[in-house]
Amino acid sequence: MEWVKGGKVCVTGAAGFLASWLVKRLLLSGYHVIGTVRDPANEKKLAHLWRLDGAKERLKLVRADLLEEGSFDDAIMGCQGVFHTASPTEILGPAVKGTLNVLGSCKKNPSLRRVVLTSSSSTVRARDDFDYKIPLDESSWSSLELCETLRVWYALAKTQAEKAAWEFCNENKIDLVTVLPAFVIGPSLPPDLCSTASDVLALLKGETEQFQWHGRMGYVHIDDVALCHILVYEHEGASGRYLCSSTVIDNDELVSILSARYPSLPVPKGFAKLDRPYYEFNTSKITSLGFKFRPIEEMKVEMEGVKGKVCVTGASGFLASWLVKRLLLCGYHVIGTVRDPANEKKVAHLWRLEGANERLKLVRADLLEEGSFDDAIMGCQGVFHTASPVMKSSFHPKACSSV
Ligand SMILES: NC(=O)c1ccc[n+]([C@@H]2O[C@H](COP(=O)([O-])OP(=O)(O)OC[C@H]3O[C@@H](n4cnc5c(N)ncnc54)[C@H](OP(=O)(O)O)[C@@H]3O)[C@@H](O)[C@H]2O)c1
Repeated sequence: MEWVKGGKVCVTGAAGFLASWLVKRLLLSGYHVIGTVRDPANEKKLAHLWRLDGAKERLKLVRADLLEEGSFDDAIMGCQGVFHTASPTEILGPAVKGTLNVLGSCKKNPSLRRVVLTSSSSTVRARDDFDYKIPLDESSWSSLELCETLRVWYALAKTQAEKAAWEFCNENKIDLVTVLPAFVIGPSLPPDLCSTASDVLALLKGETEQFQWHGRMGYVHIDDVALCHILVYEHEGASGRYLCSSTVIDNDELVSILSARYPSLPVPKGFAKLDRPYYEFNTSKITSLGFKFRPIEEMKVEMEGVKGKVCVTGASGFLASWLVKRLLLCGYHVIGTVRDPANEKKVAHLWRLEGANERLKLVRADLLEEGSFDDAIMGCQGVFHTASPVMKSSFHPKACSSV
């Protein structure tokens, strides 16, 4: 079969943090995307996907569950590529079962060219028997025994799932490539923060618990992760595993970068030392395909999204629209109130603003309905009240004085 870019691809768990960026990038590259989600009727959870450029024309969302056998058959049939990113919440056992379920559907599809599986750098680094002077590369596998002893269930499940995927694909002659992202940071498209984004937010609020445990880690920007997935899918010569990490740093280095950047935030000063081996990652396999990772200094600019959440009333108005534009550019999350969020013509200019897809939410509220603003304002640190009831007649004397 001829190797061509474009065509129809399936993304499992399409509404997740990582998958949403992948869907965004695939649509921008002209692909037709079949995204699987557990509940296609959940408008709130999926609205960010429908706002992506090209979504109305080339995105289809279908129901599939990792734990239901054959559930992915319809979504995958006829696709040339499958990006399997979905990962169950109850991770041990279901991670392997879910991966084999998706690969079982891939096996039935005669159009399939390649499967790209989202694994994790934790499948490489959870071991204590290596020479720390030699950076770890894709030939390294985490030790299942060590993962069990240290009770690092995520690394254990991801390692088991990736190993099971290789075994299945080798036996069934499926072209598999795996991407092994480090800790992913950057703007979240879905309305709810995934666990890694919540960890970063907690750190900026001064909480150390999650990062104390993470210790030394690789970091990578979410957009780079999406682009890596597409590169290894499109590059005919790509094969095997690909580490996807920009920089490996200790959590002490991370907080010193963060506190220099955000002096007003209560970022922790340091962490207790962990008895863990030092390591670096060798990412020359992906960079030799022409990929260049964003440096960590650029990633922190994206973190400005954590500047806070504010509400702008009457967000689609003349003055408010500029305010929303500026707030988004400054990195705020903006809840804009409008009387009719479904009026596409009236709110389209807001959705075109830079940062809107990632950090703007429009909700319904009416000045004349008591309590109508409660939901929009709850949880916001700031409120910009610009909305003003429309005058019935421009000849009313107060109309002039209100300008
Ligand atoms: N974030 C990171 O730093 C990072 C780093 C390395 C690797 N990874 C890997 O990247 C992938 C995506 O992670 P993420 O951070 O984007 O997490 P996420 O936002 O929580 O996304 C996980 C997705 O999995 C789906 N899912 C969960 N249980 C499912 C089930 N039973 N059936 C079908 N779908 C199910 C969820 O779908 P619903 O929308 O239906 O709930 C959700 O969309 C995972 O494989 C993860 O291990 C992430």
